[in-house]
Amino acid sequence: MKVFVTRKIPEIGLKLLRKKYDVKVHKSPLPISKSALINNVKNCDALIPLLTDKIDKELIDKMKQCKIIANYAVGFNNIDVEYAKSKGIAVTNTPDVLTDSTADLAMTLTLACARRFNEGEEVMRNKKFGGWHPTFLLGMELKNKTFGILGAGRIGTATAIRANGFGCKILYYSIKRNKFLEQKTKAKKVSLENLLNNSDIISIHLPLNSKTDHLLDRKKLELLKTSAILINTARGEIVDEKYLIRMLKNKRIFSAGFDVYENEPKVNPELIKLKNVVLLPHLGSATNDARNAMSLLAAKNVDAVLSGKSPITPV
Ligand code: DGY
Repeated sequence: MKVFVTRKIPEIGLKLLRKKYDVKVHKSPLPISKSALINNVKNCDALIPLLTDKIDKELIDKMKQCKIIANYAVGFNNIDVEYAKSKGIAVTNTPDVLTDSTADLAMTLTLACARRFNEGEEVMRNKKFGGWHPTFLLGMELKNKTFGILGAGRIGTATAIRANGFGCKILYYSIKRNKFLEQKTKAKKVSLENLLNNSDIISIHLPLNSKTDHLLDRKKLELLKTSAILINTARGEIVDEKYLIRMLKNKRIFSAGFDVYENEPKVNPELIKLKNVVLLPHLGSATNDARNAMSLLAAKNVDAVLSGKSPITPV
């Protein structure tokens, strides 16, 4: 049976698959073109795509014998899941294994924004350090600040626990109550408006879907404190990026940390000009630990389904 992988992923998963299957990897460092993707999915039994590959109805219709789409990501907004399922194709993702990496990155951005890390680095790299100064690049301590978690799933919970370790009080917005988080951090479940109004730091950990697309629109963003820090390691489309840029320009909030962008990989040029932002190139799961584990989990999902068993982490 044939497995098609749309980009080189860590060897560990590929090695496992090669023992039993004919594995073809699209080797280019650039995203696969639509026509190459169409050509390759026609006769594959399993597909391992990336979050940058759009697996829509048109593509799914080209799959003649595919039994599983094993996304190499926890997010699956790149796949028309319902349509794939209606065609009898299983869809899986890679939860858990990237939780800690992504939560670490949310805290990295939080600290970088709070302590104006980028501005300090720029001073050093431009050889502008004139000596210690009592009022130079003053930032914000995390202790006793209110940390608002938007979406208290795995990554949101792990981020909240880290923030609580820094002395933050936790508010969370979630459909379901998270008793574990409440017990662990004394977190309070609140409405979205309450969270945006009362948090010093807001960290987004929601999946992207029709309900969360532009959830943070102008009206919601205007609820933020002028001293607020907004962190997004989830998906860019959840925030009205243009309006957020306007707020950052006008110092309407303190700063923002971005790992994801509304038109990724394009970055709004206005964002690059701003000093009060920290910009990363979608690095949430970019650790050897997480990426190896993602590779192995995607491979195990493929093997399970091609062996006639249930997928390990179905969407
Ligand atoms: C995912 O897996 O969805 C993340 O965005 C990767 O960093």
